[in-house]
Amino acid sequence: MTESLSLENRTALPDGLAFLLPEYPRDVWDAHPNRGPWSEFWLQRHDMFRGFSVALSDACARLADRNIEAKAFHQWFVPRVNFFFGEIDTHHKVEEYHYFPALAKADAKMARGIELLEGDHRTIHDLLMAAHGSVVALDTAIRAKPEDIASAAPLAGDGLAALGGGLGCHLNDEEDLIIPLILDRSEPALGIR
Ligand SMILES: [Fe+2]
Ligand SMILES: [Fe+2]
Repeated sequence: MTESLSLENRTALPDGLAFLLPEYPRDVWDAHPNRGPWSEFWLQRHDMFRGFSVALSDACARLADRNIEAKAFHQWFVPRVNFFFGEIDTHHKVEEYHYFPALAKADAKMARGIELLEGDHRTIHDLLMAAHGSVVALDTAIRAKPEDIASAAPLAGDGLAALGGGLGCHLNDEEDLIIPLILDRSEPALGIR
């Protein structure tokens, strides 16, 4: 995969990669009979990640602006950010071990798209580790060094926003590559459930 197609650099999927998207544009996805339970669950997970990403970085901005008390922030934030990080990791592992191989096998034209998505996962892992580091620093500040909260909160917000930016682009492109194939072939024919 070329550098220009990496998650940090691309602004859109290259021509031809989402080869079934013109036939199955987003506005037909909701009502299509081949949108089965797997697609439903998978798209819901993606929306959950989008929602968590915004809520967690917004919460850091509120803490940085002193619109929320540190203890209340901490109680709300810690279980959610841990859940968010853990679920991203699990979601990517399941895609890489189960679904990407099944989808790549279904059509030779999917291989390049799957390779791009796997590269995205590596980039998102790096963004997640950086966000995790800034979140740990904020946690330490709240627990033991309250004078550091003012500097740690915006850094954690920036880390989460960077993760959310990369993740958001990946989720959109992943859906544009995979949902049209599912609508074209059906979940049972692709062996996904
Ligand atoms: Fe993914
Ligand atoms: Fe995904």
